[in-house]
Amino acid sequence: MSILLTGGLGYIGSHTAVALCKSGHQVVIYDDLSNSKVEVVKSIEKLTGIKIIFVKGSILDFDTFQTVLRDNNVDTVIHFAGLKAVADSVIYPIDYYEVNVGGAINVIKAMKEEQIKKFIFSSSATVYGTPIFLPINENHRKKAINPYGQTKLQIESILEDLARSDSSWRIACLRYFNPVGSHSSCLIGENPIDIPNNLMPRIVRVASGLEKELLVFGDDYPTADGTCERDYVHVEDLADGHLAALNNLGKQEQPLECFNLGTGQSCSVLELISAFENVTDLKVPKAISNRRSGDAATCYADVKKSREILNWEAKKSINEMCLSSWEYQNFIINKRLL
Ligand code: NAD
Ligand code: UD1
Repeated sequence: MSILLTGGLGYIGSHTAVALCKSGHQVVIYDDLSNSKVEVVKSIEKLTGIKIIFVKGSILDFDTFQTVLRDNNVDTVIHFAGLKAVADSVIYPIDYYEVNVGGAINVIKAMKEEQIKKFIFSSSATVYGTPIFLPINENHRKKAINPYGQTKLQIESILEDLARSDSSWRIACLRYFNPVGSHSSCLIGENPIDIPNNLMPRIVRVASGLEKELLVFGDDYPTADGTCERDYVHVEDLADGHLAALNNLGKQEQPLECFNLGTGQSCSVLELISAFENVTDLKVPKAISNRRSGDAATCYADVKKSREILNWEAKKSINEMCLSSWEYQNFIINKRLL
């Protein structure tokens, strides 16, 4: 039996593919390459010594997706594919609903037709909206504050209805907090087609001279140093979280469970910059600018449920996250210069 990863050549999917291969699973990747490169297939194979099956295709193409499910003896689908830039989702909401919600419906419908009922979904801490208590546990009320968040919330609702309609499904919604870092080999990492707006990729770009300075969005929040606090989690830990969720699916009593994947620790914007400067011995020029609309002051996970049920805990420190983000950026730049 194999595990199919939609969007498996992307940032989180590729790290998860490596973790799955290393623990003996046969991996099939279905990705349209809209935000990833086909060379990632070779990197995964080099890292694991295992051949994976890759099919280029979109989750919007129902027939091709169903054929891939049918032809590869798929047992479980891990659904990473989707659009993820919050600001873009405000400008192009229909694209986000089409790819994220429409795409998820296609994936689930094809699985239903093929009698495949094990599903792991890449959800996000964004489903909680602005936190009303901290740390955020899985029962925190859900509220979307932008179209991207709305798509994640809608997919979770669809999955809840599906689980209610047929209790033989086994579904895990994994709510990621702030994934950062890259694989220790530097063969895979965050290498999107577009320039990301998230904090760590921005720090790395400024440190490498690609941008002049980092804008810190607000220093007047009710936090210790006035800047926003987040729960950064290393992508290799996150990948292991998927493995833990997969192992748990077989024994999961309820058809659907949601799990927070974070460290349970918060780190401010200034703390992250300072950790990055310390471990890399570089300067990150910065300027304080206005608050970014929609940002919560503090957001971090209660990870008790993941620890107790999935037996999973993030292990890597903020310093390790900074170092691996920087090492990967260097690797990419050197590769381009060769
Ligand atoms: P990514 O963009 O690196 O990976 C997504 C992959 O999906 C890419 O390889 C892309 O080519 C592919 N894809 C996009 N549209 C597709 C389509 N229509 N058909 C087939 N493939 C398609 O993103 P990521 O950071 O790896 O995120 C993976 C998932 O995790 C996404 O659903 C995202 O919303 C969710 N998530 C990410 C973060 C984060 O910070 N990275 C946080 C929370 C949740
Ligand atoms: C963002 C998304 C969230 C998504 C997550 C994925 C928003 C509002 N939220 O979360 O839906 O799931 O990415 O990782 O976009 N910052 C700066 N300067 C920068 C960039 C960021 O000061 O150049 C600050 C932000 O104001 C924020 C913190 O850094 O306080 C983290 O930002 P970011 O990495 O974008 O993550 P989130 O906003 O937590």
